[in-house]
Amino acid sequence: MSPEINTRTHDRQEWTARNHSTARENPYCAKPLRRYNGHSCFFSKIDWDMQKPSVPAVTRERLLRSARKVMKNAYAPFSKFRVGAAILTSKGQVFAGCNVENSSYGMTNCAERTAIFSAIAKEGPELDIRAVAVVNDHGVPCSPCGACRQVIYEFGPRAIIFYQGEKGPKRSLITDLLPEGFRLK
Ligand code: THU
Repeated sequence: MSPEINTRTHDRQEWTARNHSTARENPYCAKPLRRYNGHSCFFSKIDWDMQKPSVPAVTRERLLRSARKVMKNAYAPFSKFRVGAAILTSKGQVFAGCNVENSSYGMTNCAERTAIFSAIAKEGPELDIRAVAVVNDHGVPCSPCGACRQVIYEFGPRAIIFYQGEKGPKRSLITDLLPEGFRLK
């Protein structure tokens, strides 16, 4: 083993030993982690396993229709790639958003985040996302970008995402698109 690897292993062991007493659930985290919706008990895992998230076909079609409609409002003069997204909340409401680009490219807001931020602006921060639909005007494969996956996960850790995959329409759980998403609560 090279000295470099030895040093790194030693550092890691020391770090783990130093922090382990406070990191009861996750040795990589200085504070104990609380799982989904603040429950850290055994039962949250059972709840999770018992209900597989699903959305009726008619609701999925409604979401896709909203996404297609709002896509027309996109401001995408730079990429010429219009995107529409619609989210379904656990109260059954639908909110839509499109991408809004900027001359300073990094300021661009994706359709998914526009939809989520609109929902919060309208209804407040108690947002619980059940599903997200994403469409684009090129009909090409397009799943939410990494930043949007993290934002979706914040408000919908069990959300189902409908999008265009390589072989046609696809559905994925956000946890499959974003394994080990980050949450503070
Ligand atoms: N875009 C979205 O709005 N959502 C996605 O899921 C992928 C990408 C936008 C960002 C940018 O305006 C354009 O598509 C090209 O990347």
